[in-house]
Amino acid sequence: MDRETAGREITRLRAEIERHRDLYYNRETAEISDAEYDALERRLADLETAFPGLGTADSPTATVGADQDARFPSAPHSRPMLSLQNSYDLDEVAAFAERVARTLDTDDLLYTVEPKMDGVALAVRWRDGRLALALTRGDGARGDVITANASTIAGVPVALAKGWRAAFPGGAAAAPDAFEARGEVFLGLERFRALNAAREAAGLEVLANPRNATAGTLKTLDTDEVGRRGLSVFFYQLILLDAEDRPAPDPFVGHQAELAVLGALGLPVNPFLRTARGMDELRAHLAELGARRHDLDYQIDGAVIKVDSREWQEALGSTAKAPRWGLAYKFAAEEATTRLRSVTLQVGRTGVITPVAELEPVLLAGTTVSRATLHNWQEMERKDIRQGDTVVVVKGGDVIPKVLRVLTELRTGGEEAVPRPVHCPECGQPTRRLEGEVAVRCINPLCPAVLAGRLRHFAGRDACDIEGLGGRSVELFLERGLVAGPADLFRLEHGLLADLPGWGAKSADRLLAGLAQARQRPWAAKIFALGIPQVGTSTARTLAGRFRGIDDLLDATPDQLAELPDIGPTVAAAVRGFLDGEGGARLVEELRSVGFFLAAEAVPPAAAAATLGEGYFAGGTFVLTGTLAGMTRSAAQRAIEARGGKVTGSVSKKTTAVVAGDKAGGKLDKARELGVEILDEAAFAAHLAATGDGTGGR
Ligand code: IVH
Repeated sequence: MDRETAGREITRLRAEIERHRDLYYNRETAEISDAEYDALERRLADLETAFPGLGTADSPTATVGADQDARFPSAPHSRPMLSLQNSYDLDEVAAFAERVARTLDTDDLLYTVEPKMDGVALAVRWRDGRLALALTRGDGARGDVITANASTIAGVPVALAKGWRAAFPGGAAAAPDAFEARGEVFLGLERFRALNAAREAAGLEVLANPRNATAGTLKTLDTDEVGRRGLSVFFYQLILLDAEDRPAPDPFVGHQAELAVLGALGLPVNPFLRTARGMDELRAHLAELGARRHDLDYQIDGAVIKVDSREWQEALGSTAKAPRWGLAYKFAAEEATTRLRSVTLQVGRTGVITPVAELEPVLLAGTTVSRATLHNWQEMERKDIRQGDTVVVVKGGDVIPKVLRVLTELRTGGEEAVPRPVHCPECGQPTRRLEGEVAVRCINPLCPAVLAGRLRHFAGRDACDIEGLGGRSVELFLERGLVAGPADLFRLEHGLLADLPGWGAKSADRLLAGLAQARQRPWAAKIFALGIPQVGTSTARTLAGRFRGIDDLLDATPDQLAELPDIGPTVAAAVRGFLDGEGGARLVEELRSVGFFLAAEAVPPAAAAATLGEGYFAGGTFVLTGTLAGMTRSAAQRAIEARGGKVTGSVSKKTTAVVAGDKAGGKLDKARELGVEILDEAAFAAHLAATGDGTGGR
């Protein structure tokens, strides 16, 4: 491969890796298994090694994935929160042990083996025996402050037991004033199942798996709700801190001693801990853990092998990403064999039609599986998957199961290939395959499945986070023709909502409050909400930082876009294509027409929190004159009324302000004459954004 090709491949891999990190950390989903993800990282690392000079400090090979969330403040870690090198088979474990032995020039080494918890990393500080701070991993250097949420976890005491100082080596006299424990938060399987059963009964969407449920719970704004979910924690690392929260010298002889002190402090530590000398013992412990993993009440995705001695850990040191003294051994994806009954079609928000395998239910990795993704038609044709086939399904990490291969030797002749759909299964319109794409798409912008997908995306947690708008209400609104796009949500009226089957005044209040909140979402979340192809939360943040409002973004050239960090020519083209295309342009205009402010926060959040009855418009009388570029006259009137203001037709001394658009005439002159406040469109929009309507945009 020449340097230029390698450079292009490196750029592509980085974008691909960032996209998967975004899915995993920010959207709590995953399209590929951990093993597939690691293969991408390895390929990138190999290319960066083969072509020195093409590596960069911000390459994913040098950074850990970020789970930062703008809704929480962040704080620096006492010491970087690193990741672990992964391995998938015993040969890789042996290679690790050899590397360690070579570096230390001895193979007389003690290793520890413990479960690798499939949860969410947490760092907790206690000062003078009291809980002081809890941080998520974040980008490894800074984490999100989630102290209140963490304090609801039984294993995170707000006050340590009296005499906690005696737990340290050397006794109370040698104990630090402050320390940090790091570990993994998780949701027990029994709790997870009970939680989902309750959600299902309440008509809420079920949570995909315990890890996602844990990540979502830790980032819930309602601390009482976090408490009700019943999270647990196991700690595996202890860092002593000085008065400035900097790490202090470490008194532990090794990892086992460190875990023992954590236990003596009253903090939960995983009871499974084995020690090993050499590969034979390592192999035996890994096998034991693999055999016992489904008997546990929590999910583990492997084992963690660590050099026990602290002195040797220090001698081995760390890379920017992971310690050299530790290794994660990931369990192989588990397989099961079953029959593919039929293939159904799923239409997503971008119109992409995904084939889904309907399987004869089979037990796989502790759960019953009856559906699996087939990704796309090309993939299905490549694997020659037919209805009626006996197939092997796998589940790697927390990913939805997928069909790995067909056992063609078991074919009976009655199996049937599934043709690419020529019509959308939801709306019946002809499908299309776009140039250069493998996906088959429904291109009908009014397809109900596409509309439902878009609305769900718009309302999603990382987008507008609209409380009270679950999947079922979206379907109901569409069925009744109440909405055709996100902007219509802001036109829904209380009376109409309250009369819907299964609704009532309370649900209507909740949705309208959720919509009012949606108007105050950060600019980056609003960009993400637009559903621009290829724009995940992190790209949306980049765009929000560079462009202050939708008009700036609409003016951006592909070159200006492509210059931004993490945005290459492909993403730039996708953004431009969306903004120039009919659907994107219409969405922007419609959102403008309901006064949905598409720009960076113009006012401090405190002012933005004002609601009906307290804001600029409340109790005032306004006159509209001229044409507003971003809003129809009636939308402007509704927006003012929704904020408690009145709109009249003529200017008098009692008028609070005149909103003057383009070509404003006599009324503007009259306002000047009487000394009435005049708002141009920008000032008007800023006031609208600052006040929200408290009612959801009636
Ligand atoms: S030790 C310097 N021990 O796995 C890193 N990590 O993939 C020390 N994890 O970031 C980590 N169980 O969040 C360690 N028993 C265990 C673990 C564990 C789960 C997580 C942890 C880490 C990630 C790396």
